[in-house]
Amino acid sequence: MILVTGGCGFIGSNFILDWLATRAEPVVNVDVLTYAANPATLASVNDDSRYAFERADICDRDAMDVVIAKHKPRAIVHFAAESHVDRSIHGPMDFVRTNVMGTATLLEASRAYWKALPEAQATAFRFVHVSTDEVFGTLGANDPKFNELSQYQPNSPYSASKAGSDHVARAYFHTYGMPVMVTNCSNNYGPRQFPEKLIPLMIVNALAGKSLPIYGDGQQIRDWLYVGDHCSAIARVLEAGRPGELYLIGGDAEKANLDVVHTLCALLAKHAPGKDYTKQITYVTDRPGHDRRYAIDFSKLQSELGWRPTESFATGLEKTVRWYLDNSAWVADVQSGEYKTWVEKNYGARA
Ligand code: NAD
Ligand code: DAU
Repeated sequence: MILVTGGCGFIGSNFILDWLATRAEPVVNVDVLTYAANPATLASVNDDSRYAFERADICDRDAMDVVIAKHKPRAIVHFAAESHVDRSIHGPMDFVRTNVMGTATLLEASRAYWKALPEAQATAFRFVHVSTDEVFGTLGANDPKFNELSQYQPNSPYSASKAGSDHVARAYFHTYGMPVMVTNCSNNYGPRQFPEKLIPLMIVNALAGKSLPIYGDGQQIRDWLYVGDHCSAIARVLEAGRPGELYLIGGDAEKANLDVVHTLCALLAKHAPGKDYTKQITYVTDRPGHDRRYAIDFSKLQSELGWRPTESFATGLEKTVRWYLDNSAWVADVQSGEYKTWVEKNYGARA
């Protein structure tokens, strides 16, 4: 079986659902259930004998030892993290704790387990550390895209903490020979994303008649990837990636934020003829240290492992809007008291 951390979050839950839908191999999901988790997301597999859930903190070494010893995974796919840049600006220490210390603790527990495996199993063991393109900093309009040789230049507490975790993961391969691989992906979107991130926030605010807050001039560029394509890339790296390697994952879909929001407004209007959601767009104070552009050259993943995205931005966004329209109960469920407090904290003070 494989062990997944952070499986109650956005990408981890999509990864588990895709995995169980396409493979026979069991999965254990280790998640401490922070504000970003919604166990109801995995309700459809709760009774599947191939699925197990362990509520545990990756920073807790004893708990990690117990979970790993109990399930004896052949591989670990590590998603668990604090993942929202704006939250990292308001409270960086949670990010250092989970992303740096948590990853290091999980790697230590994994190393102890891996070292004690019989040789054939130790050779076959894999640890995939899921990371972000934000570790490479920001690009100018005419700069070449990020690739595996790009320099680490993180600009936010989130990206700095992810960069720290990438370095620790890399060291476990180089120092101990542990079969670790790191993936760095661009912005994901799709079903089950917590509505603090741009695309789901804009969908739920538009439908609720609330403002659509654009940071700064809205001309910041992100390289959008449908979550299912990110999951298939990770599965491919797990299957055939080379230990010690970094793999960049992207969507070949660079878009300015304002264009993304206009596209969303047009898609939503198809379901509410006559409605003009663009009237809800407002410009608010920019994010401090806001990265201007991300773009990914994923040719290594394409040439070595034969991966490329299957979803275009148009088809992926349409599926995403459909999912949020069809799942208003899920949205209501995650917009709890904590969510309201966050919205007030992040947007209340912005001019
Ligand atoms: P998310 O915030 O939606 O989910 C994170 C999950 O991790 C939650 O279920 C949470 O409960 C769990 N978690 C947090 N701290 C934990 C801890 N100490 N112990 C155990 N579980 C804990 O995040 P996401 O958007 O699904 O991102 C998953 C991973 O992918 C992260 O490592 C992130 O850096 C990376 N990533 C995300 C994107 C993106 O666009 N969302 C892009 C590239 C990489
Ligand atoms: O690039 C990969 C990263 O993408 C992941 O590692 C992170 O986990 C993920 O959160 C995401 O980071 P971003 O900061 O790019 O995503 P976010 O959805 O927060 O913002 C996308 C862009 O939209 C960014 O330029 C900021 C802008 N924005 C965001 C919000 C929430 C707005 O203009 N208004 C908003 O209200």
